[in-house]
Amino acid sequence: MAGEVSGGGGRVLLATVALVVLTAAASASAQTCSPEADTLRVFRNSLRGPGGDPPRWLDEWVTNPFPCGGGGDAPQWIGIRRCAGGHVVAIDLEGLGLEGAAPDLRILAPLQGLRSLSLAGNNLTGAFPDVSPLPALKSFFLARNNLSGEIPDGAFAALRGLQKLDLSDNAFTGRIPSSMATSGRLIDVNLSNNNFSGPVPDGLLRLGANLHVQGEFARHGICGTRKGKICSKD
Ligand SMILES: *[C@@H]1O[C@H](CO)[C@@H](O)[C@H](O)[C@H]1NC(C)=O
Ligand SMILES: *[C@@H]1O[C@H](CO)[C@@H](O)[C@H](O)[C@H]1NC(C)=O
Ligand SMILES: *[C@@H]1O[C@H](CO)[C@@H](O)[C@H](O)[C@H]1NC(C)=O
Ligand SMILES: *[C@@H]1O[C@H](CO)[C@@H](O)[C@H](O)[C@H]1NC(C)=O
Repeated sequence: MAGEVSGGGGRVLLATVALVVLTAAASASAQTCSPEADTLRVFRNSLRGPGGDPPRWLDEWVTNPFPCGGGGDAPQWIGIRRCAGGHVVAIDLEGLGLEGAAPDLRILAPLQGLRSLSLAGNNLTGAFPDVSPLPALKSFFLARNNLSGEIPDGAFAALRGLQKLDLSDNAFTGRIPSSMATSGRLIDVNLSNNNFSGPVPDGLLRLGANLHVQGEFARHGICGTRKGKICSKD
């Protein structure tokens, strides 16, 4: 609109400026633009280390342009565990001293190749994060944090291909969510050392020795497992 008020010469000048800006933007994006890198940077910015800022370990997520290199299969960044065809497949942010609430996992939803996420061994507090934005996850590890409260019964309903889940060594309470057994592909579930109570969902019982609930039965009313007590009929 400014072009129309400033007359013919102004219009030419504006058009020239626009062309220069567009050309510069196009060449910059050819060199550094990676949608997955941008997504991961937003995720990094949402994380808090002991000083209240994103952990220093993750600085190279800003300085190094691509999370996956070498033909797209070689992880380039700390915390990126596996890549395939230029897509991030596994993120491992274990033991980085992350603090505060668990991160908002909706941020990672654009990573179509993501199958494994670990935030284990940090100092995360508060509620179980909403994991439904990542329905394709096969592995989800939150062990050894300080997360607490009840997990909604439908929390895992979207994760139809889940294979491995580790929530051990937190302070979760209440019933074990029945949706935890949604996936027909479960291999290993570790709920040890929480404060869950009540019956173990049937779908988890068929995991047998690959369902770990050590510490639960002794402290609380977990029932129905091989080692736990028989569920009472009330
Ligand atoms: C958690 O925080 C405490 C106290 O700030 C600290 O001593 C401990 O090392 C932290 N643990 C991890 C795994 O970051
Ligand atoms: C977990 O949180 C409680 C209360 O906020 C705190 O006392 C405890 O040290 C924390 N544990 C760890 C391992 O950070
Ligand atoms: C399950 O979690 C507990 C507590 O962290 C740990 O001691 C145990 O080794 C885990 N079991 C498996 C099979 O990973
Ligand atoms: C677990 O439950 C016991 C018994 O009610 C309680 O003393 C303990 O503080 C709880 N632990 C956590 C981590 O919530």
